[in-house]
Amino acid sequence: MFKLVFKQYKTKSSTPDLRDVINFDDFEITQNDLRQNDNNVQRLSIINEKPIQMIPGIKSPNDWRSYKLTHHPGIVIIRNPFTERGRRYWIARCLRDYPRTPNVVNLNERLFNDSVRSDWWKQLNLCSDKDEFQRIKTAMRWTTFGYHHNWDTKLYDEQMKSSFPEDLSSLCRLFAFTLGYSDFKPEAAIVNYYPVGSTLSGHVDHSEPNKTAPLFSFSFGQTAIFLIGGTTLEEKPTAIYLQSGDVMIMSGESRLCYHAVPRIIKTQRDSTSMLASEQDDDSEIELKLLDTALFKNVCEPTFWEPFSNYVDDSRININVRQVLNLGDFKL
Ligand code: OGA
Ligand code: MN
Repeated sequence: MFKLVFKQYKTKSSTPDLRDVINFDDFEITQNDLRQNDNNVQRLSIINEKPIQMIPGIKSPNDWRSYKLTHHPGIVIIRNPFTERGRRYWIARCLRDYPRTPNVVNLNERLFNDSVRSDWWKQLNLCSDKDEFQRIKTAMRWTTFGYHHNWDTKLYDEQMKSSFPEDLSSLCRLFAFTLGYSDFKPEAAIVNYYPVGSTLSGHVDHSEPNKTAPLFSFSFGQTAIFLIGGTTLEEKPTAIYLQSGDVMIMSGESRLCYHAVPRIIKTQRDSTSMLASEQDDDSEIELKLLDTALFKNVCEPTFWEPFSNYVDDSRININVRQVLNLGDFKL
């Protein structure tokens, strides 16, 4: 059933029927509207008693719109809690910084030279040939850091480890804390790059020795159709849209459920106008948690342009896991 639904959305020959895809924006008006969707979508209220350390570029948790899926216990979606500047910051980090050595990228050594493989974004933007630019651009599909996932053995390896960026760690811990997972330790990340037309087939993330800690997923750029199924491929998955800025948490039972991205849909356009109307109050928030220069620069049109062009036809997903169990020091 999972594979059949995957195929239906992936189809190249015709436009797929999108009526069953859950769009959380349909539920943003009144609570009553939530009843429309078969009772699968429920509003979730996040109440925080303790004050939390906020990060620039994120709206106050009181303003977040969070949902859960009744048919998939453990899945939580926070509909774009970022400001426009916040989204730009993370997009720029994913493109400019995270794919650099010592982080690992998918680029094949037979097809790309060392400079491209060690600093993809820099080399891409030095490239003047249009076809070569496109080749380098669309070849980037993932980068890993923290504990690197070994795709061949499907294991994590103590020897294969790079540092986990402080800013991304703070970001994950903010969401973990707000949702009640104050012990969560971000230890491994995969950033997935999806040029329009690319997909991620059905799988379960079971390589982590710790299979109970939740998984945090951040989506930027173009919209994904995301399928969330059950623990077997027999169960029919639910299709949802993951849009730019959306945060998804796979906790509890859903942590070990099949999921996939059968399609990327081009819906987002760059929204420069939103920047002007946004009030990022820098005075009250800890700018030092981020790369301050980058956070400022993403508002400069010339600085932002290459990033804007990239996400104009691509999606970026940051997928963060805790690898170790509490009390383990090493693998
Ligand atoms: C993954 C994954 C989903 C996504 O990286 O394991 O499931 O939304 N990504 O891109
Ligand atoms: Mn996955």
